[in-house]
Parts: sequence; structure tokens; C-alpha cells
Amino acid sequence: MVKTPSGSNRTGRKIGQKVKKGKLKASSRRWIERHINDPYVQRAKLEGYRARAAFKLLEIDEKHGILKGARRIIDLGAAPGSWSQIAAKVTNSTEEDIRVVGIDFLEVAPIPGVTLLQMDFLDDNAPRAIMDALRGTPDLVISDMAAPTTGHQKTDHLRTMHLCEVAAHFAVSVLAEGGHFLAKTFQGGTERDLLNLLKQNFRQVIHIKPGSSRAESVEMFLLAKGFKGQKHVADEAAAAVDEVEEDDEA
Ligand SMILES: C[S@@+](CC[C@H](N)C(=O)[O-])C[C@H]1O[C@@H](n2cnc3c(N)ncnc32)[C@H](O)[C@@H]1O
Repeated sequence: MVKTPSGSNRTGRKIGQKVKKGKLKASSRRWIERHINDPYVQRAKLEGYRARAAFKLLEIDEKHGILKGARRIIDLGAAPGSWSQIAAKVTNSTEEDIRVVGIDFLEVAPIPGVTLLQMDFLDDNAPRAIMDALRGTPDLVISDMAAPTTGHQKTDHLRTMHLCEVAAHFAVSVLAEGGHFLAKTFQGGTERDLLNLLKQNFRQVIHIKPGSSRAESVEMFLLAKGFKGQKHVADEAAAAVDEVEEDDEA
């Protein structure tokens, strides 16, 4: 079970530490204090994960069972790499038999068994590059992508929602039947068109706020389970074209 970490100091840090007032801006000092006192940050260090984000994926998996049986995984927005670390483990991915591909425009330090692409996922060439590197059909697409913050909340929100949408279209175009898609979104932010796309093509669509996601953050996750398959997507597209043609004739 993914337990809520207690205030233990096995990492050598005590919970409740303060950062001395000095040259730092108050907001930066508050961020550092929150970070070093965050029990999930400390637990990530102890367990060898590169980010506290690991516990969001593990918590979601514990409740919704998305990792079990996954043979090939794509990790969108992979840096610094904790989700890819988990993905490599569950797929038994090795350098000889790569089963995980991660992409980020930031550099990610190597993770055994993971091919890491340093490029923008919104680049037109990204989908092809990911699929070439994976050399097989994924049964899980996970996206923790968040747009770099501009300081303008609404802009940041819209840009992250756009990433979620592009990730969803990508997942629908590459997933194996029965596969799952997990992506970061925002509270109240999921567009109707995106929800419709997922509801049409997956058996179940759920919004999740993991306990390890900071309470003050508006971050949520969108989980679409049980992809209905590429044939279903093609049939839906053909039906939509028929409808348009009928409307034209009317
Ligand atoms: C919250 S972090 C991901 C943490 C990661 N899941 C982990 O466990 O280590 C979000 C990442 O999304 C990446 N990102 C945002 N927009 C992107 C884009 N267009 N293409 C590639 N990566 C992107 C950022 O660079 C950032 O590293």
C-alpha cells in the first residue's frame, strides 16, 4: 500500500525545518521550506525515486491497477524520471529489450531500460520518433506533462490542457486494445470534446486527485481505462463522416 509518509527523519532531515532569511525572496524561501519538509520528497529519496511524483503514479495504480500486465509504456514529460523508473521496473525493460520510451524537452539522466528522447512532444516529428524508439505497440501511455509556468495562471492552465489533449489524441492513435491512458489535467479543466473523445474510445473515464498530489494544487489526473481498439476508432471516424454526408444531403 502507498502509505502517507510520516514525519520520520530517516533521510537525515527533520520535518519543520526553516530556511534562514537572507537574500532569497520570501516566495522562494517558502518553496524551499515546503520542499525540504515534504514527507513525499524525503520518501522518494529513501526509495531511490527521482521525484515525489512517483507516489502519484503508484497511488493511482494501487487503486486502479494500470501497471499490472503492461508490456510497453510511453512516458510523456518524463523528467526527472520517476515515472519512467517505475515503468522500466514493471515491464522488466532492459537495454537489450527496450519497453519504455520517455520524452521531455529537458535532459533526463539515463535510466536503464528506458529510451529517453530529448524533444518537444508538440513537435510534429515526436509521435514517429517515440514509436520508432518503442518498436512495438504500447498498452499504457502516461503523461505528467505540465507547461512551463509563465506566471499567468490562465495561460499556464490552457497550455497544460492543450498538452493533455494532444497526449489523448496520440494515445488513441497508438494504444493496443485494452490499454490505458493517464494524464495530468486541472480541476474543472477537462474540455467537453476531450472527455467525449475518451468516453467514445475507452470503457471507463475517471478523474483522480491522489493524496500525494499537493492539496493546494489544482492538479488532477484523468484516467481512461480499457481502450476499445483501433478498429473501433476507425469505425467511429467512418460513422462521423457518414453523418456529415447525410447532413450535406439533407
Ligand atoms: C511534473 S514534470 C514530470 C515528472 C515526471 N513524471 C517524473 O516522475 O519524474 C513535467 C514535465 O513535463 C515536461 N514537459 C512539458 N511540456 C512538454 C512538452 N511539450 N514536451 C516534452 N516535455 C514537456 C516538462 O519539461 C517537465 O519535465
